[in-house]
Amino acid sequence: MAEETLTITDNRTGLRYEVRIRDGAIAATDLQKIVSDGPGSGLLSYDPAFLNTASCRSAITFIDGERSILRYRGYPVEELAERSTFLEVAYLLIHGELPDPTQHRVWVDAITHHTLLHENIKKLIDGFHHDAHPMGILVGTVGALSTFYPDAKDIFNVESRRLQILRLIAKMPTLAAFAARHAIGMPYAYPDNDLSYAGNFLNMMWKATELKYEPNPVLERALDVLLILHADHEQNLSTNVMRAVGSSHADPFSATAAAAAALYGPLHGGANEQVLRMLKEVGSVSRVPDYVKRVRAGEMRLMGFGHRIYKNYDPRAEIIKKVADDVLAVTGRSPLLDIALELERVALADDYFIKHRLYPNVDFYSGIIYSAIGFPVEMFPVLFAIGRAPGWLAQWQEGLLDPEQKIARPRQVYTGPAERHLPAVRQPAVAR
Ligand code: ACO
Repeated sequence: MAEETLTITDNRTGLRYEVRIRDGAIAATDLQKIVSDGPGSGLLSYDPAFLNTASCRSAITFIDGERSILRYRGYPVEELAERSTFLEVAYLLIHGELPDPTQHRVWVDAITHHTLLHENIKKLIDGFHHDAHPMGILVGTVGALSTFYPDAKDIFNVESRRLQILRLIAKMPTLAAFAARHAIGMPYAYPDNDLSYAGNFLNMMWKATELKYEPNPVLERALDVLLILHADHEQNLSTNVMRAVGSSHADPFSATAAAAAALYGPLHGGANEQVLRMLKEVGSVSRVPDYVKRVRAGEMRLMGFGHRIYKNYDPRAEIIKKVADDVLAVTGRSPLLDIALELERVALADDYFIKHRLYPNVDFYSGIIYSAIGFPVEMFPVLFAIGRAPGWLAQWQEGLLDPEQKIARPRQVYTGPAERHLPAVRQPAVAR
């Protein structure tokens, strides 16, 4: 087999360089030897949004955007969504293999027994304004957990990492439900250890005066599947933030707060909230063609469409569409689903969307399901964060244990002024 190298000719100097190719990638630092003007002038690669730059080696999630493939640790997401649970998937992401029955029992039991929050967290949540966005509360309270668990700083201790991972996966739904109830002035509902992960979350969201909350099994399963579909997505923005913050050896609560903040934006995890607002703005099936025309004209983006990696159908969107049918069979058909289906039909037949290879992403239908289950729109990104937590933690841990990990510190292409000087005699400007 031919040697895996790349030969580069620098036309500025006429010099040729040989660069090693490993696993389909060149090391950007190998470009440093291509100099035009002495030391310090080594060639940089410029990639502000990581469009074609691998930031790590990872054995967790595989995506092929051209062929609509998404696999966690080798398992197709479709199979996991059909035949596993969210907590099994969380175990798989973190440990690399699905749990055997004993491992599963221990794992589920440990997560179930870490769902409670320190009572002071309730006081912290009480301090938020009554209309505080629950995602803002989640970002703040997840970060605050680091002060409750100073042992979390011991990141190279395997037992400490195990414990913080359990705590985070267990407490995210409790923080989320408390944040939601704060907004509507309902008393916080404590976790119920008899229920599944998703069932308990529904309990903490909606338990009122009944002695025992009984989740609807269809809605409970739908929520579990949605969490599976969001569990990891290789080096997306929030995961990249998780790894970057982790590379400074910050504790995992602080890193998770940063990742959740990254997820909050409308171009990432905030998109599902925007989709629902958009469907309401469209208002009726008859107004869909006009709305698509306005998107074509560049007035706005069609939220829930397009993806950096998937240039064909997002495989998660296909599964979610089926889940939507199951949920709406229980909750009743939503006029928003009709608008979404029509938007999808019109957009997929439209030149603009065909040319730009824009297809529905995971968020296009998830909001309809969340809304049918009864979640307020502000909770949508929060639900995404609960689902993504195991992925963030698996990636954080993998990064920490990677001998090639260093503190993430990109370079820049400087475009400011060349060196200049202040006058020899100068009075500082004084505000008048
Ligand atoms: N509606 C209309 N046009 C779009 C859309 C959209 N949803 N998405 C991309 N385009 C167009 C852009 O205007 C651009 O057109 P141009 O080349 O003629 O200027 C072209 O497609 C490429 O767009 P980019 O923004 O360069 O693509 P990128 O890969 O950087 O963006 C993103 C991906 C952010 C997801 C984008 O498609 C988008 O904004 N979608 C809407 C928000 C959304 O649904 N986000 C959720 C993403 S999935 C997730 O986080 C779970």
